[in-house]
Amino acid sequence: MRLLVTGGAGYIGSHMVKLLGDKAYETLTVDNLSEGNPWAVLHGELRVVDLLNYKALEEVFLEFKPDAVIHFAAKVKVPESVKKPLLYYENNLLGTVNLLHAMQRSGTRYLVFSSTAAVYGIPENIPVKEEDPTNPINPYGWSKLFAERVIKDFSYASGLKYVILRYFNVAGADPEGKIGQVSKEPTHLILRAVKVATGQIPYMEVFGKDYPTHDGTGVRDYVHVVDLCEAHLKALDYLREGGKSDVFNVGYGRGYSVLEVIQKVKEVSGKDFEVRYAPRREGDPPALVADSGKAVKVLKWEPKYDDLGFIVKTALNWEIQSSKVSCYNIV
Ligand code: UFG
Repeated sequence: MRLLVTGGAGYIGSHMVKLLGDKAYETLTVDNLSEGNPWAVLHGELRVVDLLNYKALEEVFLEFKPDAVIHFAAKVKVPESVKKPLLYYENNLLGTVNLLHAMQRSGTRYLVFSSTAAVYGIPENIPVKEEDPTNPINPYGWSKLFAERVIKDFSYASGLKYVILRYFNVAGADPEGKIGQVSKEPTHLILRAVKVATGQIPYMEVFGKDYPTHDGTGVRDYVHVVDLCEAHLKALDYLREGGKSDVFNVGYGRGYSVLEVIQKVKEVSGKDFEVRYAPRREGDPPALVADSGKAVKVLKWEPKYDDLGFIVKTALNWEIQSSKVSCYNIV
């Protein structure tokens, strides 16, 4: 099966490409390298193409003729989306429209799309089910929800088969330590915490301590990046076996607060570090926890790394390794 992976040089995409390589799939990565890195693409060819450049995208599709696309390429930072909404609608919505055009031109039949728990906004029920109301509270969530709508309408009109995966909080790194999360301006909780533990950021900030949660800080469902990628493989198998187009949550179904995550990073790293309270961050819901029963049942997803300690350990190992690499390069 020939697979085109958009955003395959980025954090989640590169773990996906590695997994596909391990399973001997033929892959082509399309990435504009705005956040991604060429060295992170461990399998197949990389084409540096922006989804907003339709002509270049179409050329790649007509040449490679993929059977399926896994579409990761997107802007993904909630706070940035509040400040720069147009950037998010351009990249995440128009980028997806271009992609669907190119898929139609090349006759590509299957799509697995990276969506997000941010489409639920402030959920009415915890854990959240796929059929619960969607009502995003930030432009990032809206851009993904609009893209979902476009995919559904296009599927109806064209016969494209899709799986939409709504990710909860993806974290951790390749257990073999070959790749991990790299960000020019890191905002994610676990990434920032391991950077504080390794002395690259001076202290940790906790955004908001008066949420209606058990300790007043934000609660999230942290899922290991490799388990998330496995869900994509299961989605591809499901589509190839004739499964109907559908939407699935991907998380472990249990939430940790910001303070619990910080405590775990301190425990795993053996470092005590300064923690300061700061105001709530705009666009943050109090709690997001998945009900992923549908992915387990229908996609036969079998998560292996449902352990916050393991998630933090792999993130920390990667941080130690990659920060050494960059020091070495500077010298
Ligand atoms: N947080 C802090 N301090 C930090 C960083 C984050 O207190 O330095 C808090 C946030 O306020 C939030 C929690 O930690 O309560 C998690 O924040 P992240 O930035 O790690 O992740 P988000 O929940 O904002 O967003 C992530 C992904 C989205 C996805 C969402 C789904 O970036 O793509 O999870 O739950 F939609």
